[in-house]
Amino acid sequence: MLMFERLREDARAILDRDPAAHGFWQVLLCYPSVRALAWHRVAHKLNPKHPVLARWLSQRVRHKTGIEIHPGATIGRRCFIDHGMGVIIGETAEIGDDVTMYQDVTLGGTGKDTGKRHPTIGNNVTIGSGAKVLGPFKVGDNSKIGAGSIVLREVPSDCTVVGNPGRIVRKADKRVGVDLDQVNLPDPVQERMTLLLKRIDLLEERLRQRAKEIGCDLFDLYDDPSALIPNDSGDYYEI
Ligand SMILES: CC(C)(COP(=O)(O)OP(=O)(O)OC[C@H]1O[C@@H](n2cnc3c(N)ncnc32)[C@H](O)[C@@H]1OP(=O)(O)O)[C@@H](O)C(=O)NCCC(=O)NCCS
Repeated sequence: MLMFERLREDARAILDRDPAAHGFWQVLLCYPSVRALAWHRVAHKLNPKHPVLARWLSQRVRHKTGIEIHPGATIGRRCFIDHGMGVIIGETAEIGDDVTMYQDVTLGGTGKDTGKRHPTIGNNVTIGSGAKVLGPFKVGDNSKIGAGSIVLREVPSDCTVVGNPGRIVRKADKRVGVDLDQVNLPDPVQERMTLLLKRIDLLEERLRQRAKEIGCDLFDLYDDPSALIPNDSGDYYEI
């Protein structure tokens, strides 16, 4: 694809996603994202044979736009880096198509990995301002990373992650999280006790029937107060 066509595609993506963008020429001339990505494509091509030149170019672009993309990073189509300042994209980062990210985003490593050290971002992912995505894991398609989040683990597709450390708060458009209902809490001990009492009732009834059949007089449990168990309302369970 010709360089100018890619530029036009990037500019269209910005016009679609940024309500503050007014017209093709404004985007082309004033948005650092367009310039940083165009020069990154050049640096990425130069990188295998001319790593020093590629790195020099990427540092020049960082100086001009505030966006630092390592020449080794792989970036898909229609990426939009809004505002740009402070964005850092590491050498082994891979970014899918239609990704939007804001200022101060880091796609970095933790310092613990070798080889692949940076994240793989799926298609149509949004990464909020100041978010740090650190490590060689995947962020699934259509997911959102909240502003200021620190994400250290794999994120499945269609999720929203927020906070530090990042936690999933929405999955496939459903809220995920702690149930804060502190009134209607289940009581597993009481549930077990109720089941046991039902079973004792059943066994006792069988025993009584059998005793009647063989003409035996069964000891009457209701006469023995030590055999009564208090329940929640202060009454006693019958056993
Ligand atoms: C995360 C985000 C994309 C919203 O995604 P969403 O799927 O629509 O999520 P919701 O708005 O329903 O929020 C879900 C929960 O996360 C919380 N939340 C949202 N963004 C958060 C953030 N950045 N940090 C912490 N919590 C956040 C919400 O308060 C909500 O909590 P609740 O369930 O207790 O009410 C958005 O809040 C965000 O951070 N966008 C980045 C925008 C940005 O960087 N702008 C810079 C422009 S210059």
